Amino acid sequence: MIQPTPIPTHWYNITADLPVPPPPHLHPGTREPVTPEDLAALFPSELIAQEAATEQYIEIPEPIREAYATWRPAPLIRAYEFERALGTPARIYVKYEGVSPVGSHKTNTAVAQAYYNSIDGVTKLTTETGAGQWGSALAFACAKFDIELDVWQVAASYRTKPYRRHLIETYGAKVHPSPSPLTETGRKLLAEDPDTPGSLGIAVSEAIEIAASEPNTRYALGSVLNHVVLHQTVIGQEAVEQLRNAGEENADIVFGCAGGGSNLAGLAFPFIREVLHGRAKTRVIAVEPAACPSITQGEYRYDHGDLAGFTPLLKMHTLGQDFIPDPIHAGGLRYHGMAPMLSHTVELGYVTGQAIDQREAFAAGVLFARTQGIVPAPEAAHAIAAAAEYARGLTKPEVIVIGLSGHGQLDLPAYQAYLDGDLEATS
Ligand SMILES: Cc1ncc(COP(=O)(O)O)c(C=O)c1O
Repeated sequence: MIQPTPIPTHWYNITADLPVPPPPHLHPGTREPVTPEDLAALFPSELIAQEAATEQYIEIPEPIREAYATWRPAPLIRAYEFERALGTPARIYVKYEGVSPVGSHKTNTAVAQAYYNSIDGVTKLTTETGAGQWGSALAFACAKFDIELDVWQVAASYRTKPYRRHLIETYGAKVHPSPSPLTETGRKLLAEDPDTPGSLGIAVSEAIEIAASEPNTRYALGSVLNHVVLHQTVIGQEAVEQLRNAGEENADIVFGCAGGGSNLAGLAFPFIREVLHGRAKTRVIAVEPAACPSITQGEYRYDHGDLAGFTPLLKMHTLGQDFIPDPIHAGGLRYHGMAPMLSHTVELGYVTGQAIDQREAFAAGVLFARTQGIVPAPEAAHAIAAAAEYARGLTKPEVIVIGLSGHGQLDLPAYQAYLDGDLEATS
């Protein structure tokens, strides 16, 4: 009998357990470590404190736990049919975040960020979104905590993926294609190339530009920063416990897709906690798209999180702040950098990068849908593809955990394009 898993009461901060502290974020002008005052124009005080927190556990406020309770704990599913189709001796478990109201892990941080802004008296937020998962998650959370929201959506996705835009608008937020004529950054880029597909780095700059220029308005980021990664650790804390309740001692290997790094870090850090405390030997694979391979091809150095250079300098794996990836269907993986916390664990040897082509990702996504019934988000399909390749090569049983960060039911045109042999043309 599998025991029910309680919703975590705390977020887990891996900084407290790592042998080397992560490098600080730097002020873009002085190149000195950022101070809370430097960040005060953009973020509420609690999130600024979490960005530099050193304690091992941070209590989750009751209103956030109440919101989590509508979809958490998210299920850990043994993928029997998928195992059989792969012909693997592995026992494959999938941690499924698609049960949240908008269908992805992004809600875990969205409700936390909206809550902390609301108690600081903020009345409006701005943000970026790729395919729209983060924008819809924050729109849901802003509706809950009565905050106005403007979203800059990467132009490539804005043009080809209207459904999440409709979802964002249904929750009451506004969506602008990025680059947009509403900002300095956007006007400059549109003058150079009116047909640019845009990038998450550009959309971040536009959202920050507006937040900095309007009263009582702040900015929210859907990935990358330490506080976002922290909020996502509810995923891994549940998964570690659910795996034990399913009779497994530990995971041998964890796979997750990595765009800005938040769902993977959220899943993996509690498993790495077990490694750091000598209780497990779990390996972690960060699966990124071949079109935007920050960990496997990028440099580990200080870089901006956005194109215009408004964000602090972050020590991370980066392809450069002006890198514009090909418009692949996994919009959420088209980010030039990587969460500094995840990059740090890569450098320390706890996480390894692997790049996957989008065709392989869709092939795995289709196999997963046909065996398990869940259509994975194209982002998550990258993790499934890498895990499937690994599982097929095994001759002895191992326990594999895959982060299934969201469902792909609003990405069905992309699946259709794959089935029609038309992936690139429609990206
Ligand atoms: C379903 C899904 N998975 C993964 C990602 C990638 O983000 P991250 O690496 O921060 O989890 C996104 C981003 O939008 C997403 O929507």
